[in-house]
Amino acid sequence: MTSVRLHVNVDHVATLRQARGTTYPDPVDAAALCETAGAAGITVHLREDRRHIQDRDVEVLRRTVKTFLNLEMATTDAMVAFALRIRPDLVTLVPEKREERTTEGGLDVVGQREAVARAVQSLASAGIPTSLFIDPEPAQIDASMSVGAKAIELHTGDYANAADPMEELERLRAAAAYSVRVAPEMRVAAGHGLHAQNVVALLAHAPEIEELNVGHAIVADAVLIGMEAAVKRFLAAMAEGERLRDGALSR
Ligand code: PXP
Repeated sequence: MTSVRLHVNVDHVATLRQARGTTYPDPVDAAALCETAGAAGITVHLREDRRHIQDRDVEVLRRTVKTFLNLEMATTDAMVAFALRIRPDLVTLVPEKREERTTEGGLDVVGQREAVARAVQSLASAGIPTSLFIDPEPAQIDASMSVGAKAIELHTGDYANAADPMEELERLRAAAAYSVRVAPEMRVAAGHGLHAQNVVALLAHAPEIEELNVGHAIVADAVLIGMEAAVKRFLAAMAEGERLRDGALSR
């Protein structure tokens, strides 16, 4: 068992569907299997170019997801209007560039403070909490707190890609600890590029992380071993990270 919540991002189930313009595989079916396997929530990124998840997917998921629905989106008026209509359990604001292969770098909350604050306020006035996907930097954490974010998601991409991950692991650990110190009411999540190997050290080192958003590695595993097995394998890796952390703390 793991006390850290796993939100499975099912975007790449839709990527496979969009590759052929079929109706299958359906991310809605995948989400149900993830929940059965023990995921605490489902995450989708509705990109402005609609390259994988479609409006219909989010609409149907809102009706079928029984656990928790996290909608990742860009900070635009159109996306805020969409979220206000759908009412996900959480909105995560992410930076978005049309030409990128996947989300590159965190949201610059320091540089876009007004636009982010406006989106956070519009969503909050409808009772929808907002998380901000940021690089593990104190200045971005301070800015996230100042715009009223209910949570931050630390970008783990640099950790996942690092030749020597220890330095990046330390950055993440320090950022998570800093966030809990300066804003104890703001939840700390993490995600991007995580897989069943690198998640173990992450959770072992950063006990403040309460939630993970994981997509590509789980969907990739699911292609070979099935969605439920892939989620269970990831949950087992998370439990191993927590076990190492608890062991380290009790020494
Ligand atoms: N968290 C955020 C904010 C993301 O944008 C993504 C990618 O859509 C993920 C987590 C999941 O990343 P990955 O697919 O590499 O697990």
